[in-house]
Amino acid sequence: MKFEPRLLVCSLLGSLFFRLLPLGCLPPHGSQRDASKSIAIVGAGSAGLAMLKSLLDLPIETRADWDIVVYEQRRDVGGIWLPDPSPPPPPELPETPLYPLLHTNIPIPMMTYPGFPFPPGTPLFPLHEYIQQYHRDYATLHGLWPYIKFNHTVLSSSWVGTPQAGHWEIVIEDHNGDRAKRAFDHLVVGSGHNHEPHIVVFAGQETWLENAKGGPEREILHSIWYRDPSRYVNRTVVVVGGGASGLDMASQVSQYSRKIYLSTRSPPEGAPTGPVEMKPGISHFTSDDVVFTDGSMVRDVDTVLLGTGYDLRVPFLEEGGEVIVKPRSNETDGRRLTTNLRYLFPLHRHIFSLSESYPTNALAFIGLPILALSCPSDTAQSIYASSIIANGGLLAPRTELLSQLADSEEELRRRGYDPYYIGHRMVENSTFDYQDGLIETLRLKKGLPGENTPFVEPWRRETIIYIGSMKRGWRRLEGLGLAEEWLDGIESEEEWADLMTRVGVWQSNWETEHQLVFPDDMLIY
Ligand SMILES: Cc1cc2nc3c(=O)[nH]c(=O)nc-3n(C[C@H](O)[C@H](O)[C@H](O)COP(=O)(O)OP(=O)(O)OC[C@H]3O[C@@H](n4cnc5c(N)ncnc54)[C@H](O)[C@@H]3O)c2cc1C
Ligand SMILES: *[C@@H]1O[C@H](CO)[C@@H](O)[C@H](O)[C@H]1NC(C)=O
Ligand SMILES: *[C@@H]1O[C@H](CO)[C@@H](O)[C@H](O)[C@H]1NC(C)=O
Ligand SMILES: *[C@@H]1O[C@H](CO)[C@@H](O)[C@H](O)[C@H]1NC(C)=O
Ligand SMILES: *[C@@H]1O[C@H](CO)[C@@H](O)[C@H](O)[C@H]1NC(C)=O
Repeated sequence: MKFEPRLLVCSLLGSLFFRLLPLGCLPPHGSQRDASKSIAIVGAGSAGLAMLKSLLDLPIETRADWDIVVYEQRRDVGGIWLPDPSPPPPPELPETPLYPLLHTNIPIPMMTYPGFPFPPGTPLFPLHEYIQQYHRDYATLHGLWPYIKFNHTVLSSSWVGTPQAGHWEIVIEDHNGDRAKRAFDHLVVGSGHNHEPHIVVFAGQETWLENAKGGPEREILHSIWYRDPSRYVNRTVVVVGGGASGLDMASQVSQYSRKIYLSTRSPPEGAPTGPVEMKPGISHFTSDDVVFTDGSMVRDVDTVLLGTGYDLRVPFLEEGGEVIVKPRSNETDGRRLTTNLRYLFPLHRHIFSLSESYPTNALAFIGLPILALSCPSDTAQSIYASSIIANGGLLAPRTELLSQLADSEEELRRRGYDPYYIGHRMVENSTFDYQDGLIETLRLKKGLPGENTPFVEPWRRETIIYIGSMKRGWRRLEGLGLAEEWLDGIESEEEWADLMTRVGVWQSNWETEHQLVFPDDMLIY
């Protein structure tokens, strides 16, 4: 950026008195077009931070004049790991699904940013607070804070220009409700996908809800509003959904409830702890009963908790008309992206929009993959995206990228998956090959310096086989009061990897000795 005293004064004034900004300081857009490139990142969760760090890691001669801004609507970094101080009752959405007893569902060394282990002494499956602090530490270590505008919500974003050139016009609202418009060359979306509850509606539920007959009030609540299990003391509860949220709610609520059922259409992704009775999917409600698909029913239910997951939405791009919402669809009109609520398409490798309205490196998404082990996957995606933002020539022409996408979708179909249903789920541990693939492509195209060693450290691939026994083993170590002792002296990534293996093997041996068999925990990260 050229030195512009007027801009400097304005930005100083702006940060002091945002509301009182003199009009002369507010060019409608293009305010910083003299920077050689301008990039807006939406969100300062795991994904947004990884992207910011990768951009700053580009050679200084590449990015010296770039103007990089992260807009984060909340007060701090961390995304879903930052608690909502006053979560509202439904239907208003809380800022995060985080609940007080949330622990990670995978061992923390597996979800770290590469080269940045958790501090010594961190439990293997820690409470959410550790993850939030980890993100703060990451921001500090890499000098990310100055680039992040907190309490700034991106309301809408639309492309102004042609398929070859133009800019994003972005409307941002600050804490005081004041709005500003700004132009950016590139837009990177790291806004998360756990913010729009997927709410399933069952036949007869309205009648059932209204027919409480003077007993405790009946309710049906999605996990995004779930907070305190002691609320369900002496209640009869049905939890719907065998994914991470359903299993966790069932395990916690079972400590308080009179009776609890876990209703799943397919085998759950693990076993809940506590006295939980398994049920198949819900068929419908009568005025008194919850009826399951096997014909069984339960009476006296007070609460139904839905662990039915989230819809993939990008409100600020829908607002600008860049993304259209078509539930269950597999069709796109070419000019805009479509979300069918599980899959956003067409995207190049789950990252770059292949809409024909703008250049292929104009709009990127970080963090869409599910079952991906977030921080490492965010990092690989961010390195890929920043290199390609720096040099759009690294991408083949759009038509070729579209045909590569069609090929990879066809490959999934061959393996028995519907790409428009699994969406961004990295089935069969494919997250590792996906991450390696992104980095390998860059190296082959000389878009990234360095030897072609795999991006994914061998220990990440090797320890994943112990994920189920690790979780049970850690619980047992904590019960025996041995956890601290096992954590003693664990600092480097290699030591963390070794600890994971030891816990896994220790537990497996014990289970074999006691002839205990557990269903294979599928990966539910
Ligand atoms: C209950 C729960 C438990 C989980 N447990 C694990 C786990 O144990 N291990 C694991 O690896 N993963 C877990 N996950 C997955 C988790 O989503 C990822 O780990 C990761 O934290 C997601 O980071 P993100 O940055 O992609 O999104 P988010 O954490 O959702 O961050 C997005 C950020 O963007 C901001 N934002 C959104 N829209 C706007 C806007 N318009 N303007 C400005 N800012 C905006 C949000 O405020 C937020 O800070 C869990 C998810 C949930 C819901
Ligand atoms: C953001 O808003 C919170 C209140 O929600 C406030 O405490 C905080 O100081 C604000 N941060 C900034 C950087 O404006
Ligand atoms: C729950 O039920 C038990 C046994 O019926 C009773 O002793 C206890 O007081 C109840 N707790 C609450 C909070 O209602
Ligand atoms: C979309 O779905 C229809 C109907 O199932 C199918 O015929 C068509 O081939 C699908 N198209 C794509 C791109 O998957
Ligand atoms: C992931 O990899 C591990 C180790 O190879 C394997 O045991 C497990 O079955 C795989 N999970 C899936 C869903 O393929």
